[in-house]
Amino acid sequence: MKIIEARNYHDMSQKAAQFIIEKVNLLASPVLGLATGGTPLGTYKYLREDHLNHHTSYSHVYTVNLDEYVGIPPDNEHSYFSYMKKQLFDHIDIPRSHTHLPDGMAKDLSAECHRYEDLIKLLGGIDLQLLGIGMNGHIGFNEPGTPFSSKTHLVELTSSTRKANARYFDSLATVPFQAVTMGISTIMESKQILLLVSGAKKAEIMAKLLNEETNKDTPASVLKRHQDVIIIADSDALALVKERSRSY
Ligand code: GLP
Repeated sequence: MKIIEARNYHDMSQKAAQFIIEKVNLLASPVLGLATGGTPLGTYKYLREDHLNHHTSYSHVYTVNLDEYVGIPPDNEHSYFSYMKKQLFDHIDIPRSHTHLPDGMAKDLSAECHRYEDLIKLLGGIDLQLLGIGMNGHIGFNEPGTPFSSKTHLVELTSSTRKANARYFDSLATVPFQAVTMGISTIMESKQILLLVSGAKKAEIMAKLLNEETNKDTPASVLKRHQDVIIIADSDALALVKERSRSY
């Protein structure tokens, strides 16, 4: 794993956007794995600005999102589909048919998981997967204990994840209980992974991730087994990593 230290959230976002833009310019038909949550908001903002100012084109880009809530219609403001439209898709020249998220409204969710997995294969796999990390070390919605062999699947969200995500909803009661997420093995099959981490509230999980052996209780620790992972983390997120490595 290569770790790039950013000064702060803006610096992290700028560096991540630059990385993505280079990939978009380099490849003939890049497949980007995209993430939601608070962390990539700044990255998407820089991508929007860059498109406006430097006209980076996304007409040849395909995207697959990590996850989607179950039971929230795509046009609902809380769906990850709405998030992606608002933060990125509506502002760049990517054809709508190139953008994909799991369908959390599918009647047969198990068939939907298979469809999504097949779709990723059909696209030729993910060239660059953008990731955030949950406070409990989850990636996508792969909660602690998820088998590393998991493919796209239906998950029951833990109460800690529901609480952490309640800030985006009107109340905790309205946060969905389930989601469809790429599995850990789906994520690990990506050719390259870019993990973004920001803020003091992520310092504990970063210290765990970097100082502990790979284990199922910290899903993100599986990334140590991938040959091409780049972490862009800001100083606040890295504070405990440094403190603990100093004390060894
Ligand atoms: C959610 C998403 C994850 C994201 C995580 C962290 O649960 N499913 O993909 O990485 O939360 O979110 P944030 O970036 O807001 O801290």
